[in-house]
Amino acid sequence: MKSHTQSLLADALTSLKKQGVIPEDFEARIQVDRTKDKSHGDFATNLAMMLTKVAKKNPRDIAQLIIDNLPQSSHVAKVEIAGPGFINFFIDENALANQLMFALNDPLRGISKPVSQTVVVDYSSPNLAKEMHVGHLRSTIIGDSIVRALEFLGHNVIRQNHVGDWGTQFGMLLAYMEELRADKGEQAQMELADLEHFYRAAKLRFDESETFATRARQLVVELQSGDEYCNKLWREFNDISLSHCHDVYQRLGVSLTRNDVQGESTYNADLANVVADLDKQGLLSESHGAKVVFQDEFKTKEGEPLPVIIKKADGGYLYATSDLAAMRYRSNTLQADRALYFVDLRQGLHFQQVFKLARDAHFVRPDMSLEHMGFGTMNGPDGRPFKTRSGGVVKLVDLLDEANVRALALVRSKNPDMDEDELINIAKTVGIASVKYADLSKNRTSDYIFSFEQMLSFEGNTAPYLLYAYTRIMGIFKRAEDVDLSQANIALEHEREKALGNKLTQFGEVITRMVDKGQPHALCAYLFELAGAFSSFYEACPVLAADTEQEKLSRLLLAQLTAKTLKQGLSLLGIDTLERM
Ligand code: ARG
Repeated sequence: MKSHTQSLLADALTSLKKQGVIPEDFEARIQVDRTKDKSHGDFATNLAMMLTKVAKKNPRDIAQLIIDNLPQSSHVAKVEIAGPGFINFFIDENALANQLMFALNDPLRGISKPVSQTVVVDYSSPNLAKEMHVGHLRSTIIGDSIVRALEFLGHNVIRQNHVGDWGTQFGMLLAYMEELRADKGEQAQMELADLEHFYRAAKLRFDESETFATRARQLVVELQSGDEYCNKLWREFNDISLSHCHDVYQRLGVSLTRNDVQGESTYNADLANVVADLDKQGLLSESHGAKVVFQDEFKTKEGEPLPVIIKKADGGYLYATSDLAAMRYRSNTLQADRALYFVDLRQGLHFQQVFKLARDAHFVRPDMSLEHMGFGTMNGPDGRPFKTRSGGVVKLVDLLDEANVRALALVRSKNPDMDEDELINIAKTVGIASVKYADLSKNRTSDYIFSFEQMLSFEGNTAPYLLYAYTRIMGIFKRAEDVDLSQANIALEHEREKALGNKLTQFGEVITRMVDKGQPHALCAYLFELAGAFSSFYEACPVLAADTEQEKLSRLLLAQLTAKTLKQGLSLLGIDTLERM
């Protein structure tokens, strides 16, 4: 409806150009917004105001000219000029009802399919030296929901789990593994069950023993020079660490598979070429023995240069170097139109610098867009980064376990007579859904306070509220038993039917915004409003006890489309619905 209104306005503009009212070469951005107040119609545009300068007329006169030149459309019931020159569109109710009927049977829920793009999505990407902790939650679930929404719209999505599987910390881990093996033989493997503990123990040895530290450094050099023994140890370590990650993905219902892993180390063989190519283009400088790139636009507050370090004095490469190689691969081999990076906002400067450098060095096609979709920090109740009581990092598995236990207590309290197996199953879904939804519903770039109480509440914009809203609609259909809706039609009579119908047609706009801006919270806010519009409708408009059979069927169709939209929306957030809770 919104894009239809936009295209009507575009046609009117073309006519005005032909008539010489505005210059042929004038490029207008046609903005159409939903109105807040329904007495102003459904959509409004400020186009007339944008044209005052070029048309040299007052905005209300231009508005009238635009209206006179709008093509006929069965979708529009009425057009009005308001205030200084806004144009308000009132959508025809029959057209709205027809659109809802179409959405009901359309797998895309009435959304018009965009031109398909190849989109690389870099998300999750934990460092393998440690176990996944709460710091990885946001990237993993925000990225996964954007991936789902892009695929839903028909884009070609390439997931890239750019895991940190390379770097000096691996020397320390390998040295520790070697020491344990000498001590315990094959039993040593067991120690890897808890990576967090393993990492801490290795770090302790590194700090307390000079011989250990020397061995660790030696192993890094051997690893980097391709030594077979070191590489085997390293592969084993990463394999175990990755299987921990995939256990977490599975529990979270995240769509990443082993095939999506493309860690930093995959680019090792290309790093020397990156350096050579930068050098050839005259971009490299020397600084204290290191190879660096100075960029005029990046300076410290004091005006000191902030170079990107490409190769250290000891010959080691850096995070930025493998990101440059990765960008080139994503552009030239994967042929991405967009590359999205779901990474902590605190890495903002890194991405600004490497994106700029990749462009300057022509490592990426000029038409490929590079987008850092940064996110804020998940904080504890004290407003500081979420920690355990003793100040350690919170492992993701522990967090999910606790969500589960709390969800079970909640579901049990609501259904004291429910069978234990069913309770456990429902609690599993509710627990994970609550953690995910609480995160996804927050503005991506804000920090937020993690609170089990808030996320497991049935009130407000929460997973339990939405899951429950869905089960209530399913309950109507259970009570309706087998009504035949195949010949039924939607008719919007009551104010609240119209309001619900209107909300339902906004799904497409919301998904488009979600994938363009990387904002799942737009979808969450919409689903919350949709559930609210449904309850207001349900309060005022009896469904099964409607006055006429026709009214009953029409209302059942509205309920059905609401349920389908809620289910589809939640599934794009990576959240399963329940028939009962
Ligand atoms: N492994 C990095 C970290 O944990 C995130 C990697 C993000 N992706 C990238 N291409 N740099 O901070």
